[in-house]
Amino acid sequence: MATTTWTRHHVLSLADFTPEEYNTVLQTAASFREVLSRRTKKVPTLQGQVVANLFFEPSTRTRSSFELAAKRLSADTLNFAASTSSLTKGETILDTAKTYLAMGTDMMVIRHREAGVPQAIASEMDRLGVRVGVLNAGDGQHEHPSQALLDLFTICTLIDPDRPRLELLKDKKIAIVGDILHSRVARSNIWSLTASGAEVHLAAPPTLLPQLFAEFVTDTPGKLFLHWQVEPALQDADFVMTLRLQKERMTQYLLPSLREYHQHFGITRNRLRICQSDVKVLHPGPVNRGVEISSDLMDDPQFSLIQTQVTSGVAVRMALLYLMGSSKA
Ligand code: CP
Repeated sequence: MATTTWTRHHVLSLADFTPEEYNTVLQTAASFREVLSRRTKKVPTLQGQVVANLFFEPSTRTRSSFELAAKRLSADTLNFAASTSSLTKGETILDTAKTYLAMGTDMMVIRHREAGVPQAIASEMDRLGVRVGVLNAGDGQHEHPSQALLDLFTICTLIDPDRPRLELLKDKKIAIVGDILHSRVARSNIWSLTASGAEVHLAAPPTLLPQLFAEFVTDTPGKLFLHWQVEPALQDADFVMTLRLQKERMTQYLLPSLREYHQHFGITRNRLRICQSDVKVLHPGPVNRGVEISSDLMDDPQFSLIQTQVTSGVAVRMALLYLMGSSKA
């Protein structure tokens, strides 16, 4: 593995990621993808280190791929599930984190339904003066940095498998369609994709895409556009990212019906006809088939990168754990 000048101790948000950091993650993930293609898919890089997965909210992809990534790097892993933990007896989140610290944890991967929890734990670790890296695995509606980085890796490796890099997306048109309002994935994607110089087009019903998103990014090479109909976002798009309707975060009536939503915003083969002929479709998962994307399109390898995204997730999360574990900060 190449030596690096990575200095970021925690990965909590992509808002302040630099182009150099994006490219370091992409290139490191490419090296790990090569490791994962070997017969023996394991390296001793994090031998002796402990990675704790603290998931206070359900997850399939993120949790399992962080666990597998840590194991492929030879780290010891601890897996916490809120429902079977001492949180149910009144222990606080910070005391839970300190309990894992006392067991010798080196890195904590944290998901929580409330925005800001990974940041709060990272601040507590810093206040205690301990070298424990905190990775945000999704906090409320705020951010999901590792998902956006694996999305970036998936797209960039499609364009140049050997040398994925941010600059490959300059001049690309990328549509993000769906429940933007409640999506931490969309927020992280907006940071990474506009940093690449791409044109990013958001499309959703007005209740799921407030005008304030227009001010989301400033000072990036890329541009951000808002649409309350799907067609202008899809027209000539190179990539279409679909998003699940996050009903668990909807506190009020925001949609007419799932059928009507699919009719107006669902991504189907027919809708893709106005995109570039080689358009590809992504979805962070989990998918509600037949709502945000038609079931046949989801399973069509000509268009769908959904399984590739999951595969990319292991290499990208290995890269993050490796870089944080060898941080010079
Ligand atoms: N994309 C994503 O975060 O999926 P999980 O909720 O299954 O981890």
